[in-house]
Amino acid sequence: MDDVPLGTHVTGLRLDRAEILAVLGAATRAPSVHNTQPWRFRLRSGTIDVLRDPERWLRVADPDGREQRLACGAAVRTLRLALIGLGHRPFVTLHPDRTDPWLMATVRRGSGRPATVPEQAMLDAIGVRRTQRTDFGPGGVTAEARLALRRAAIDAGVWLDLVADPEVADRLGAMARRAYRTRMDDPAFRAEVARWTSWADDRHDGVAADLGGPAVSPSAVWLPGGARPADGQGLSPSSPLLGFVSTHADGPAEEVRAGEGLQSVLLAAAAHGLSAAFLSELIDVEPVRTDVHRLLGRPRRIQAAIRLGVATASPPTPRRPVEDVLTEDSEPLPPV
Ligand SMILES: Cc1cc2nc3c(=O)[nH]c(=O)nc-3n(C[C@H](O)[C@H](O)[C@H](O)COP(=O)(O)O)c2cc1C
Repeated sequence: MDDVPLGTHVTGLRLDRAEILAVLGAATRAPSVHNTQPWRFRLRSGTIDVLRDPERWLRVADPDGREQRLACGAAVRTLRLALIGLGHRPFVTLHPDRTDPWLMATVRRGSGRPATVPEQAMLDAIGVRRTQRTDFGPGGVTAEARLALRRAAIDAGVWLDLVADPEVADRLGAMARRAYRTRMDDPAFRAEVARWTSWADDRHDGVAADLGGPAVSPSAVWLPGGARPADGQGLSPSSPLLGFVSTHADGPAEEVRAGEGLQSVLLAAAAHGLSAAFLSELIDVEPVRTDVHRLLGRPRRIQAAIRLGVATASPPTPRRPVEDVLTEDSEPLPPV
């Protein structure tokens, strides 16, 4: 790590070198589709910029970059928390320049303050939060945990709707399976998934094949044992709680905010001993997305769908070293 070039920015940020490496290392623990880690961090005097990485944009699964902005938002939330953990109150501007489609956020150091109790619990969860890749076990989500999850969402400026009604959940399950089949019927989608399925031990991104690779949708493990259920079959009774993160408006800044809110909810869940799996196909595939909005009857824009429950934690996925995610001030990014 001694050779990571941080230049003079260490002084501008008033963080020492070890602190910068620590906060950026924490930020890279954020979730991202297929574990693409589609972010770059640029150090400027007094500022850390969070950027989308054009080389890690999933053009098939995520043609308009929405999920990439969510992942960058999740990294922003983690960076924020890591700075709070060092006693610095960060000052964050989301998507500050409408003419720059790559710049997702600028993070400055604000005044100092200690972490609150929930923030400290989320901080402690950064290294243990994992996407659940196998089925959930028995055990429900307590009322206290549900409240904490909703509060975590609100603190990040988004909404979390929790759905426990078995009939609604069954219908959502059928929709997820329909959407999953639509996606997997697309050879370009399957090829993109294959590129991010890792067979090599020394790879720092993607999802290992023995974890199922990114191809395994939570809807494929909707029932215990990974059985592929037919439409109309019920949700696994052991993981009945679904969560939907939504924003008031559409647009890039709201998507970054949604990513912040998603990570806030995921970390709060981990802090309460809960695991979460994604159901992105409910949001990504039309006309399923419209059906989901209609079924849930929410006026807001649903940005992420997760299942929550108690589970044996899945193994960790790798991350790239900090030097790989740092970018130089002058490095030009291509037009979108
Ligand atoms: C916006 C977004 C959408 C995601 N969608 C899915 C999904 O549909 N299926 C899935 O298994 N994981 C999904 N993930 C989780 C990633 O696969 C996971 O974050 C990544 O592999 C890193 O693993 P970790 O979360 O355990 O650190 C999604 C993550 C993000 C941020």
